[in-house]
Formats: sequence, C-alpha cells, structure tokens
Amino acid sequence: MQTPPIVETVGLSKYFKGVVALDQVSISITAGQVVGLVGDNGAGKSTLVKILSGDLEPSAGQMLLNGEPVHFRHPRDAKKNQIETIYQDLALCENLNIMENVFLGHESYRNPFLRLLDRRRMYSETAQLLKGLGIRVPSTRELVMNLSGGQRQATALARVAKAGAKIVILDEPTAALGVNETRNLLDLVMRFKEQGKTIIIISHEMRDVFEVTDRIIVLKRGELVADKFTAETDPDEIVRYIIRGRE
Ligand SMILES: Nc1ncnc2c1ncn2[C@@H]1O[C@H](COP(=O)(O)OP(=O)(O)O)[C@@H](O)[C@H]1O
Ligand SMILES: [Mg+2]
Repeated sequence: MQTPPIVETVGLSKYFKGVVALDQVSISITAGQVVGLVGDNGAGKSTLVKILSGDLEPSAGQMLLNGEPVHFRHPRDAKKNQIETIYQDLALCENLNIMENVFLGHESYRNPFLRLLDRRRMYSETAQLLKGLGIRVPSTRELVMNLSGGQRQATALARVAKAGAKIVILDEPTAALGVNETRNLLDLVMRFKEQGKTIIIISHEMRDVFEVTDRIIVLKRGELVADKFTAETDPDEIVRYIIRGRE
C-alpha cells in the first residue's frame, strides 16, 4: 500500500472581504520533499502557509496530514502535529539569549516541582544543537538583539530543531540576508532535509529555489498555476508561470 502524502490540501480556499486570497488549491506533498512556493506579491503564498500553520482557518476545502483530515484553529494545533513555521519576523525574543530562545516553551528542569531550571543542561544542549546544524555563534549566552540577521535565522531554526518539527515552513527566509548568510541558510535547509524533514520554502530568489527544492509550486492570484519537479523545469519556465499563469 502506498503511504499517503504527509501534507495534502483539497480545494483549499480563503476569502477576505471581497478578496479571494486562495482559490481551491490542491497540493500533495510527499514526506522528505523540499517544496518551493513561489508567485508574485499577493499570490496567496503566505495565506496558504498560514492555513498550514494554524494561523488562519480556511474558508473552504480540506487539509490532511498523513491521509487524515485535520482542522487547525490555532498555531498550537499545527505545532502539536510537528509543523513549525518561521515567518520573516522570526518571532524571537530580543531580550533573551540564544539558549533561552531555543528552549522557550521547552525548558528543562532540575526539579519540575520547584520549577528549578536546568540551565547548564540547556546551554550544553543548545551548543550541541547548533553544532549539529553547523551553526556558529559567538556564545549561546549572546542576546538575540546583538545577533546578525543570519544568526537570528539560525537561532530560529535551532528552535524548530529543538521542537522536533517534522514539517518546517519558511516564509521568505533569505529576504533580508547577505550572500554568506544566505549560503548558511540554504545549507541548513539541506541539513534538515538530510534529517528527513519535509520543508516548504517561500522565496522570490529563483537561484535559491532551484538549488534546494525537489519541487516547485506556483501560485497566481490565489490559484495554483504550476506544480513541477525542479529537475524537470527551469527558472525561465517558472518565471513565465509566475507572470502569465497557466499556459
Ligand atoms: N488579513 C487579510 N485581510 C485582507 N486581505 C488579505 C489578508 N491577508 C492577505 N490578504 C490578501 O490576500 C491576497 C494574498 O496575500 P498573501 O497570501 O499575503 O500573498 P503573498 O504572500 O503571495 O504575497 C492579497 O491580495 C492580500 O492583499
Ligand atoms: Mg507573503
């Protein structure tokens, strides 16, 4: 028997007062794939990932995980299903250090009854986690407010790794990064793929999309206009779909 797709949407639609943000989008993602989600501004990319992340409820249609229908009403519903999303703003706590951000909501206690934190263990685990992901930071005690854009991204990704996500969604992760930081981020995506995670990545940068994805989905005005294996298409064709829609 064939295993069902890890994520599937069937006729997913989202309407905002008078605006069709998503128009009957059906996609089916196999576990372990890296999927690029592309399209012009306003195409519906963020709306789709917000539905997958439990940030928005669909107006119509269905979402299935491993073949089972799910109804997310809150981001915690997605997290419970091991779906973690990193938005452009990263949602890190500026006034906390790297370890505190990585462990936020997943703290280890020396004595859970007395709520005594096991900081030593959390620092060493954070260092290991970062090392395993090939991330270099000056110190796991560094406050997030002092980090570069790439180090912040890395911290957000370490948090996702700590949370044990199976599905990682990245909305425009390289938009604010320099060349080297983009390189590191793409390496991290590949590291996650090696670990068997399923990744959905939104990006405007065709070069990045073609480098890391197995598959590319194009949205235009809320509609799915192309769904191609990366190896079977090229940047010109994808850009054509983005601009002209379905041929
Ligand atoms: N909260 C909202 N209220 C009203 N319209 C929205 C809202 N969020 C998104 N939209 C509209 O839905 C469409 C798709 O937006 P979005 O998913 O953000 O596109 P993308 O991420 O591809 O740029 C756009 O026309 C946008 O203006
Ligand atoms: Mg967007």
